[in-house]
Amino acid sequence: MRLEEKKRVIKMKQQHIISIEGGDGSGKTTLIKRIEAYFLHRKIPYMITREPGGVRISEAIRDIILDTRYTEMDYKTEALLYAAARRQHLREKVIPQLETGKVILFDRYVDSSVVYQGYVRGIGMDEVYQMNLFATEGFLPELTLLLDVDPATGLRRIADNDRQEDRLDKEGESFHRRVREGYLKLAEACPDRIKLVDANGTEEEVYRQVVAILDDFLEA
Ligand code: TYD
Repeated sequence: MRLEEKKRVIKMKQQHIISIEGGDGSGKTTLIKRIEAYFLHRKIPYMITREPGGVRISEAIRDIILDTRYTEMDYKTEALLYAAARRQHLREKVIPQLETGKVILFDRYVDSSVVYQGYVRGIGMDEVYQMNLFATEGFLPELTLLLDVDPATGLRRIADNDRQEDRLDKEGESFHRRVREGYLKLAEACPDRIKLVDANGTEEEVYRQVVAILDDFLEA
């Protein structure tokens, strides 16, 4: 696996770019609300962004990807669609925010594709990574918080949440186990950027680990 980290091509002022990753049911949404409170409390200007993020082209693409009727979707098509939605979102929502000095926090980004499409679907992590470098012009986070949760716990949380299932949530436990495996492989390949967070504990326990990482990162 090559997966070497490329320098960002897009030039910018001192600006912190963070992403949050993790399997389904890892508690990303809850954690992001707390991180938002963390930024507000410390008066740190921030932008939290989540593809497709209200960008109409990206919304339309995501509707196709997640539509349960499209059972015939080819995996590479899926990967290309995610990358296309990502690029449009980046151009419209994120790039205009560069130079503002805000912390930019991505709720899922390139790593989601590398793991879900590259590893779990079996296209190849490096292939998907390279394709995403093309889509994002190498615009990557400096810090990634990876919420690591036991797949059974993740599945239970999804069931308890009672939210509407999308095409990917319908996958069984082995799918979720593979997602976790993929993320752990990626974390091993990028130890400087990806910080593992044990997400099996309570909300407070998870948050405390994240605060320690963020304090460290933002002070540096
Ligand atoms: P999302 O709507 O972000 O759900 P969640 O609340 O779990 O973060 O993502 C929906 C699904 O799409 C999720 O199972 C992960 C998957 N996904 C990919 O397979 N590839 C990608 O590039 C992204 C961004 C998400």
